[in-house]
Amino acid sequence: MEIIIQPSAEAGARIGARIVEDLVRKKPEAVLGLATGGTPLGLYRELIRMRRELGLDFSRVTTFNLDEYVGLPPAHPASYRRFMRENFFDHVNIPQTHVPDGMAKDIPAYCEYYEKAIRDAGGIDLQLLGVGHDGHIGFNEPGSSLASRTRIKTLTEETVAANRRFFASEAEVPRHVITMGVGTIMDSRTCLLLAFGEAKARAVAAMAEGPITAMCPASILQMHPRTIVILDEAASRSLKRAAYYRHVYANKPAFQRLSAFPA
Ligand code: F6R
Repeated sequence: MEIIIQPSAEAGARIGARIVEDLVRKKPEAVLGLATGGTPLGLYRELIRMRRELGLDFSRVTTFNLDEYVGLPPAHPASYRRFMRENFFDHVNIPQTHVPDGMAKDIPAYCEYYEKAIRDAGGIDLQLLGVGHDGHIGFNEPGSSLASRTRIKTLTEETVAANRRFFASEAEVPRHVITMGVGTIMDSRTCLLLAFGEAKARAVAAMAEGPITAMCPASILQMHPRTIVILDEAASRSLKRAAYYRHVYANKPAFQRLSAFPA
């Protein structure tokens, strides 16, 4: 796990976007795994700027999103499909985007199809991740199997309460989601996890320096051969070895500094 600590969320988002840019320039047919939520918004904004100002070309890129609410049609204002359209897809030139279908009739069959679609696309080159306060990745809440695949999950009461602000009433908040599994995420060739703000500090420390446990699903990333974690100062505050991570980043050999992906 490479941990990069930046002075601000904006600086972190810029580095994250440069890592995605580097991949897309080297592998124009890259398969990107994408996330919703507040965390990746700055990175998406930066990629949109790169598209507009630098002509970054996504015309051969394919994307797969981590998750979607069960029962929300794609046009619903709180659906993750809508979120992705408004915050990213409508502003770049990606022809092939996949967000799990929250309206699927046969959910287990649909989840198998989603896994197969990822395999058929050649697997995910880079999976963008945020982390929940409780250590979830995707919607894999604590207790999720660390080998799980795409499936339906029941949200915790805390997550339902946290999502309440996006809906007219609590009754409208979906209780179920379709999410890539922890095992699905672990199959990605690179994981790029961003976390900003003091509220994430505890989850970040548990993920990076705590025991590997289903009680903190993100901790399995310690077993991933290539995970890059980008933090701001506040999110790094509970890390015991922050000084070492800064030292490593400041002293990166030149070839590693220039590029995250081999040519
Ligand atoms: C989103 C997702 C979630 C979020 C996490 C953090 O697709 O899968 O795991 O990344 O809940 O959310 P934010 O970024 O809103 O703090």
